[in-house]
Amino acid sequence: MSNIVIIGTQWGDEGKGKIVDLLAQYTDMVVRFQGGNNAGHTMVVNGKQFISHLVPSGILQGKICILGNGMVVDPAVLIDEIDHLKNQGITIEPDILKISEKAHLIMPYHRAIDVAREAVKGQRKIGTTGRGIGPCYEDKASRSGIRFIDLLEPEVFKDKVTTILEEKNFYLERYLSAEALDVTAILSEYSKYAQRLAAHVTDVSITVNNAIKSGKRVLFEGAQGTHLDIDHGTYPYVTSSSTLSGNACCGTGIGPQHISGVEGVVKAYTTRVGAGPFPTELSDEIGEKIQKKGAEFGATTGRKRRCGWLDLIMVKNAIRLNGVTGLAITKLDVLGGLESINICTGYRYNGKVIDEFPASLTVLGACRPVYETLPGWNEDISHVQQYEALPKNVKNYLKRIEEITETPIDIVSVSPGRDQTIIINNPFG
Ligand code: GDP
Ligand code: IMO
Ligand code: MG
Repeated sequence: MSNIVIIGTQWGDEGKGKIVDLLAQYTDMVVRFQGGNNAGHTMVVNGKQFISHLVPSGILQGKICILGNGMVVDPAVLIDEIDHLKNQGITIEPDILKISEKAHLIMPYHRAIDVAREAVKGQRKIGTTGRGIGPCYEDKASRSGIRFIDLLEPEVFKDKVTTILEEKNFYLERYLSAEALDVTAILSEYSKYAQRLAAHVTDVSITVNNAIKSGKRVLFEGAQGTHLDIDHGTYPYVTSSSTLSGNACCGTGIGPQHISGVEGVVKAYTTRVGAGPFPTELSDEIGEKIQKKGAEFGATTGRKRRCGWLDLIMVKNAIRLNGVTGLAITKLDVLGGLESINICTGYRYNGKVIDEFPASLTVLGACRPVYETLPGWNEDISHVQQYEALPKNVKNYLKRIEEITETPIDIVSVSPGRDQTIIINNPFG
């Protein structure tokens, strides 16, 4: 297969960064197509950790990295990331990193609104990352967003910012009781970003399509996860973009015929950052053990991630929604040392067992997981390199995932490091 989309099947933080970094070696180009710096994708190479929020996780493999039109980009964060990578000896020239001229810019008022709105919501807050993601996508949909192409046209940029800031300041001050922002300061700050990033801005649809035409392999890197998707996730406890594989096309400017496979990343248990229902959440010492052993802290905000058993109703939902062709199971090592392990195979609701993920949060909130209990293992599997060498109970756990989801497992990750991964079937052939 030549062009593959990698997506998260749960609520994000499945280990997409690690899988993308690993598979990037078989590709020529890595493309982000949605989201922004709400993402935190971790790569660990030779014991050294890199967390990327905007730059695609193919950068450490020296691949061409693309920020697609479906993204919302905070230029200050992107510049920081470029500088950080440069300091580590990784060159980020315009021929390596390209930004879509149609990608939307996160502006200071987006961040201010995100944070102030969450504060006003109080108990009803979504628990956003506070990076301005939602407000930026709102402006895109209401046609008052600002794109990279506008940043390169100073008069257009000035006019757009001046007009919109009037409305934003009114909302910030009057409704959210937050401070108004100064237009001159924004214009001066963003003109520096324009100078810094201009050479990277291009029509990435042409770049990606030309690459595909000439037989190059492209990997599309999803951010967030299926159940944070704006349409199919646990709305309103979701992010503001379409996180599904189908959006790799719209968020980049390619046709669907070019997608040859979809790799669904599944954490061996479930985690969630922020608010919203979570049927298999563990509020006991097992949940705490998994949180500690798995070092489950948000890579973007540092918040503690909520932990629970693997929910295959969710994973099956993700497989259908994304057209997943193979699974990458991550963090399997974290489950070591537990006497037994539960897998959720259904939800009990109103005395009946249902096996589809409900749209209603009232229903989802009332669902109780139906578990299949499997024996645990005590062996340390973090250095196992071959599937055959895995302990019997680990293989049994993986086999049940394959059977229940009716989807083959291609990859098993047993540690954060790039090399600590078992590739059963390379999706790139
Ligand atoms: P992403 O947002 O999907 O890229 O995932 P994150 O990077 O936010 O979170 C995944 C975390 O798990 C990171 O700290 C990774 O280094 C770590 N990780 C990935 N795979 C494994 C694994 O197989 N075992 C362990 N113990 N950690 C892993
Ligand atoms: P990666 O790509 C986990 C969550 C936030 C919040 C909700 C909305 O690292 O998997 P937003 O700031 O997007 O408006 O927040 O979505 N969220 C994530 N959770 N991993 C992520 O990204 C996330 N990006 C957003 O915690 O609940
Ligand atoms: Mg993450």
